[in-house]
Amino acid sequence: MSSRYPAAWLDELRSRSDIVQIISGYVALNKKGRKYWGLCPFHGEKTPSFSVDGEHQLYYCFGCKAGGNVFHFYMEMEHCTFSEAVTQLAERAHMTLPELERDEDYERRRTQRERLLAANKEAARYYHETLFTPAGAASLAYLRRRGLSDGVIRKFGLGASPDEWSVLSDRLMEKGFTLDELTLAGLTVRKKSETGKDRYFDMFRSRAMFPIIDAYGNVLAFGGRTLEKREPKYLNTADTPVFNKRKGVFAANLLRQQRHLDRVILVEGYMDVVSLTQFGVEGVCATLGTALTAEQARLLKRFAPQVYLGYDGDSAGQHAILRGLEILEQENVPARVLDFPDGLDPDEFIRRDGAEGFRNLPAISPAAYRLRRLKEQFDLSAQDGRLAYARSASEIVSAVDPLERDVLLSQLSLETGFSRETLTEQMKLSVRKDAVRTSETVARPRTSVRTVTGEAVSDDIKAQELLLSLFASGKIPKDMIEEKDFDDDELKSLYRELAAGASPASLPDLAPDDASRSRYTRLLLMPASGSTDEMISMANDCLVRIRRTKLENRYEELSQEISSAAGERLSALLQEAREISDKLKKLK
Ligand code: CTP
Ligand code: MN
Repeated sequence: MSSRYPAAWLDELRSRSDIVQIISGYVALNKKGRKYWGLCPFHGEKTPSFSVDGEHQLYYCFGCKAGGNVFHFYMEMEHCTFSEAVTQLAERAHMTLPELERDEDYERRRTQRERLLAANKEAARYYHETLFTPAGAASLAYLRRRGLSDGVIRKFGLGASPDEWSVLSDRLMEKGFTLDELTLAGLTVRKKSETGKDRYFDMFRSRAMFPIIDAYGNVLAFGGRTLEKREPKYLNTADTPVFNKRKGVFAANLLRQQRHLDRVILVEGYMDVVSLTQFGVEGVCATLGTALTAEQARLLKRFAPQVYLGYDGDSAGQHAILRGLEILEQENVPARVLDFPDGLDPDEFIRRDGAEGFRNLPAISPAAYRLRRLKEQFDLSAQDGRLAYARSASEIVSAVDPLERDVLLSQLSLETGFSRETLTEQMKLSVRKDAVRTSETVARPRTSVRTVTGEAVSDDIKAQELLLSLFASGKIPKDMIEEKDFDDDELKSLYRELAAGASPASLPDLAPDDASRSRYTRLLLMPASGSTDEMISMANDCLVRIRRTKLENRYEELSQEISSAAGERLSALLQEAREISDKLKKLK
């Protein structure tokens, strides 16, 4: 990300742009303990969970997990790119920008990521311009037929891919992009023809184009809708080095511009987003042709304190809502449901009932929604049906807070004819599913350690994370820790950088995406308290735990192998087992 500027110059700029001072310009901060605290500017909150670490020059919100160094704060606050943030902060600090390499040289040295993003941006520009030329007339007519105004078409940068084989590829190659780059970006398809000759053509042809843009304005990918009844209805860029459809959402760029949203509305389709936006609804976005993922749930949490699921009113959409609610619950994102009537999708609904109808649509609670779906499965005119419904419904009702429980009990009582007292008794009996649910959702850390239970793995990663945090404080002797004490690639690389003398504040620049940046920052914050001795002793506890787990795992493996080994192999294994056992004794 920062490759364009010399690292030493960036370090200098970072140290001249004191993060506490810069952030104070936007957020009222109070010093408490080692850190400064304030109300997070990136999500609505009433009690401060936004912290600024003046020692390490980092900020981190414990509520929405936004975090990074002064550049990232500036980027998020001013909605600008990394280089814009650098330029503006340099001006403020009266530092002249370093001489950037000559253009050709710079082109060559730019990272692949930047090249692919540049190709995508060119493509988006081309598609958008084409929409208003004869080659895009069919797409423009299609979008207008669907009721879109020119204003909203421009707002989303919609476009047209013409009915030609390779105009876009040829044009981008003229601009200096290679066929390899275009193929990698998913813009061009390459095929060996029967004669063995290499042929290529544009991925998107004769489709209305929806650019997928991230919060920083990078064009990551495209969705292209067919103008006729051709399959697939939407053709999407497959995952590329710059695009992961499970991590982003459509219209993240607009979400970022709409500050202080009190909720985000998540819908299924690109057209739903565009159409609701045209009707004046703010904060709408969509997943990218897959079901909601945990990463997306965490991303949404950064834009608003709650998420409304506004999926299609058909049965697929209803199923997706139940699944989506589970994901949001697992990620602790408060959710509500917009239940569209008559099998309509949000686009069809707002066209039929208008912005007024949309505003009047109740946002119902997850439990109320689950009851609604459950009820459809039973015949409530029969005693058996009412009984079965009441039993299942009790489980749902037992999981909500007392106030909502009261409302739902009245509703259930009306629906089933059972008294509230009887239903309350039943509710106490019904097994709470919570226990099961939490055990299923323990996050599976990325790790190569094999331990018997998932729980042990995650504790082990926690110990490694704590060890890294302590190391980042600069209070731990270098030779105490080794790179192989970390299993996780991210932890390993953070350790390597710190050991090589990088400052904690410089490391969030290296994060590949928002989720990693948030994790890096959390780990690199100065520990809340502790003397040097205390920190060293904590680091030692972590190390003992980590090293012991590794040895125990190896011991476990050895015992398995020993039971079926013989001869020389057996004595080698026994020897290793003895050594491990000795090491384990020493660790205790
Ligand atoms: N989708 C997809 N590939 C398909 C069909 C759908 O990726 N072959 C994704 C797209 O992101 C699309 C969303 O699923 O926006 C919803 O699809 P669907 O409900 O079929 O379409 P609508 O959003 O109703 O699209 P339209 O109104 O244009 O028919
Ligand atoms: Mn639709």
